[in-house]
Amino acid sequence: MSSLQQQTVSRDAQLGRSRVTDNPELLAFYEDLARHGADAFWRRANAIEPWEPQSRYNPTLWKYEEMRALCLRAIDLVRPEDAGRRVVTLLNDSDAGRANTAVVGWLFSGLQAMKPGEVTPAHKHTASAHRFIMEGAGAYTVVDGHHITLGKNDYVLTPNGCWHDHGVAAEGRLSIWQDGLDIPLMNCMETNFYAVYDRPAQTPGFPSNDLPNSYGGAMQPDGVEAWTRPFSPTMVYRWEKVRDAIWSFAKASDGSPFDGHIMRYSNPQTGGWALKTMGAHMQMLKPGLHTRAHRHTGNVVYNVAQGRGYSVIGGRRFDWSEHDIFCVPAWTWHEHVNLDPGEEAFLFSFNDFPVMDAIGVRIEEPFEETGGYQVVRD
Ligand code: FE2
Ligand code: FE2
Repeated sequence: MSSLQQQTVSRDAQLGRSRVTDNPELLAFYEDLARHGADAFWRRANAIEPWEPQSRYNPTLWKYEEMRALCLRAIDLVRPEDAGRRVVTLLNDSDAGRANTAVVGWLFSGLQAMKPGEVTPAHKHTASAHRFIMEGAGAYTVVDGHHITLGKNDYVLTPNGCWHDHGVAAEGRLSIWQDGLDIPLMNCMETNFYAVYDRPAQTPGFPSNDLPNSYGGAMQPDGVEAWTRPFSPTMVYRWEKVRDAIWSFAKASDGSPFDGHIMRYSNPQTGGWALKTMGAHMQMLKPGLHTRAHRHTGNVVYNVAQGRGYSVIGGRRFDWSEHDIFCVPAWTWHEHVNLDPGEEAFLFSFNDFPVMDAIGVRIEEPFEETGGYQVVRD
């Protein structure tokens, strides 16, 4: 038995925990309960009410070089109009990841590659989606009739219930992006609907990029119909603007000891998250920065927008470079290191924090031992 398990067993012996010792009468009682579709709560209580969150997911890293090659093979093997969406799904290295089709926690993620001229058939679902563009040129999405062009390191929303199709313009280049969805959450809550559009693609009903051009700056438009939908009207957050915002922030603040300079992709009308169920951040780690470790409820998936370094997650070291993807399961210690002595590193990430916020369980804790940094196990 590990020392952690021994600690848990001794803590479970205290008043307030289940500490019933079975005897023949109790065992007979349990059998009778089972025959009636019931069980004694005290038999299960300690397992279903752990002292602290016990993630069923493991820290996992996907190297972009390897995943990119697999995306290119998928292009040769299936057409988007047959696959629905030609996505290489990222499965967390755990039974829960494989069972729930989850990248970590209640989050889904995959890599989608499209050639110039290809279009993914228009559809909608109750799952929300967002995308982070990793490479290419000429990629676009159409969300409820709004055409949005996409460039490298842009972040774009596909809020739940919106019709969407995407593709790459004929004169563009092979494009790859990371999809993030809350499909596991929708399935857990049994709220997942899906529908296909009555034509292969939408006909845009507005000038291209009308939403980011109207709502994506420091000013908000007056004199037009008020935006009333429950998600950010900005829709796409351009890399150059995001990077400039973080550089500006870095002139004004030392940032977070746990995350460097980190900023939220926000709904400009509320200052809150851009989507209702998933949040996203961009963070900058200054050259050589080693952040202090912390842990929190909520799950996070990272995509290295720029730079090289490593993260220590649950005592394990994961080395990363541009567009590698890795995840931090709920309540797992983590810290980040920029290994470059001269260049900043930028980490894009998405999370399920809006759900944690909505139900009042966003909890965070700093690592206090060994100077605030974890001891690396392997
Ligand atoms: Fe979709
Ligand atoms: Fe964190």
